[in-house]
Amino acid sequence: MTTSRRSLLAGAAAMAAAPMVSRAQSAAPAALKDLAAAKGLIFGSAVNARQVRSDPAYRQILQRECGALVCENETKWVALRPDAARFDFTDADVIAAYASAQGMALRGHTLLWHHPQWFPDWLTGYDFGARPAAEAERILADHIRRVCAHYPQVFSWDVINETVDADTGELRETSLSRAMGQGVLDLAFHTAREAAPHAQLVYNDYMSWEAGHEKHRAGVLRLLEGFKARGVPIDALGVQSHIGSGNSDDSVGFDTAQEREWRRFLDEVVGLGLDLMITEFDVHDKNLPVDIPTRDAAVADLGKRYLDLMLAYEQTRAVMCWGMVDRSSWLQGNWLRADRLPKRPTPYDAEDRPKPLRAAIAAALAAAPVRASLQLPGANG
Ligand code: XIL
Repeated sequence: MTTSRRSLLAGAAAMAAAPMVSRAQSAAPAALKDLAAAKGLIFGSAVNARQVRSDPAYRQILQRECGALVCENETKWVALRPDAARFDFTDADVIAAYASAQGMALRGHTLLWHHPQWFPDWLTGYDFGARPAAEAERILADHIRRVCAHYPQVFSWDVINETVDADTGELRETSLSRAMGQGVLDLAFHTAREAAPHAQLVYNDYMSWEAGHEKHRAGVLRLLEGFKARGVPIDALGVQSHIGSGNSDDSVGFDTAQEREWRRFLDEVVGLGLDLMITEFDVHDKNLPVDIPTRDAAVADLGKRYLDLMLAYEQTRAVMCWGMVDRSSWLQGNWLRADRLPKRPTPYDAEDRPKPLRAAIAAALAAAPVRASLQLPGANG
């Protein structure tokens, strides 16, 4: 399995050269996965099981553009764990089988979304008994071992997702941390390393350069520094990258103090020896004008400049979009526009036509410096 996963990634990089010939002949635009692979990068998207089962137009886009997929929801506890005793891999298996049939790599999201809002009810209300720490450890380690063993092809796992409170910078509390303390986070990484020794292990969060995210960034940095100081096996920071107008970032600008703070944060992260992964890229157009060309141009412009900044770091290994088509973006159902119009945050529109954001991603990938492709842990030993 390890060999096939490694050769899949190597294959994705090697494939970058081949399509050049046919592209020159057909003048079809280069696939995003090929533009990425030529730079040592991985390009892919989140997808859900419904789309894989019953949306052939979307599947075509995925097959054309993506070198990797990640389950949007299907490998979260709420989906995999109906109760304390059972695992239900049905929906996640649909995506994993599709990725493997198409020769796409698989990312994993997430072994523990350590945020009480996203725990299954049974886990929030769980009776940990007379020895709560031991029982919490057992449940968590058992979950991670079972899920990693079920998907040995996953090359990169979001081990912990969003455990730093964005408002305070403090660690979130859940039923698990109440039972066993914040050692829950270290345990998750150690168990993941044992259970998936050749996967890149990632801490994933949505800290960004927006005003109001100072405490979030500082909290994430403290967490990462603590991991490194304690010898916790972590390889990368996942920068979700849900950027754009309509978050709290209307004031974000380039060549500003905010951009400098963001670079300082990234410098500190890579200074710890960590890689960067863009894990959930989309560009919110909540507060942009109704006119579609204007809106699309603003989305593309912000996307391009953001990706340019992120890809200038040779430690950045991947660009994963949180969906490739507007019609099924998670942003359609959250933080609605005042005019209630559908949003346009992804590379393809509701009729599956490429948008300026797709061209912006292509241009950013084409302009990115070449880097050594992702080295998986244990690859040389
Ligand atoms: C979102 C999904 O897109 C939605 O379908 C679901 O209802 C909630 O979760 N950060 C993350 C992702 O880490 O798991 C979230 O995905 C989006 C924000």
